[in-house]
Amino acid sequence: MTDIQELLLSRIRDVPDYPKPGVVFKDITPLLADPAAFTALTEALAELSLRNGATRIVGLEARGFILAAPVAVRAGLGFIPVRKAGKLPGATLRQAYELEYGTAEIEVHAEDLTPEDRVMVIDDVLATGGTAAASLELIRRAGAQVAGVAVLMELGFLDGRAKLTPELGGAPLDALLTV
Ligand code: PRP
Ligand code: MG
Repeated sequence: MTDIQELLLSRIRDVPDYPKPGVVFKDITPLLADPAAFTALTEALAELSLRNGATRIVGLEARGFILAAPVAVRAGLGFIPVRKAGKLPGATLRQAYELEYGTAEIEVHAEDLTPEDRVMVIDDVLATGGTAAASLELIRRAGAQVAGVAVLMELGFLDGRAKLTPELGGAPLDALLTV
């Protein structure tokens, strides 16, 4: 494990039985509160994005916004929000995805993504992969290219990577930590 990975991991708090019994929640708020760790995370994700040739950074509401916005600034790229349905005022593309119980929908402003754009998707966690897969579907439907997906943490035991692979179309999925 690298020094940066050790730093990041040390600032993620395990919260047992949240949001329900038997689940261990990975709380990133201690990492966000530590400027050295948050800066290291931002720089690592910005570097990955530029290495992948991204021209746009997409952040996934809500926790993905916290990471993706400083990454976009650091990388010198525009930030595009993918929001939970009903929050964006303009014409949108909307995509449904599965939750443990039921479905949810995310949206992006249709005019924000064009075929010239190479888009990097940033989120905090890859769990089942449903949220990230839906965001890639939005990018594809908008006609834009996928530069990659990067997350702070991949929950390896849920195998979201397998779900995402077909949607990636050969683009890389990077997780700074696998837990
Ligand atoms: C969480 C997390 C990821 C997503 C991962 O978001 O921030 O976006 O779940 O799960 P998946 O891989 O199974 O789709 P969530 O919508 O629960 O909450 P948030 O609004 O706080 O980001
Ligand atoms: Mg989220």
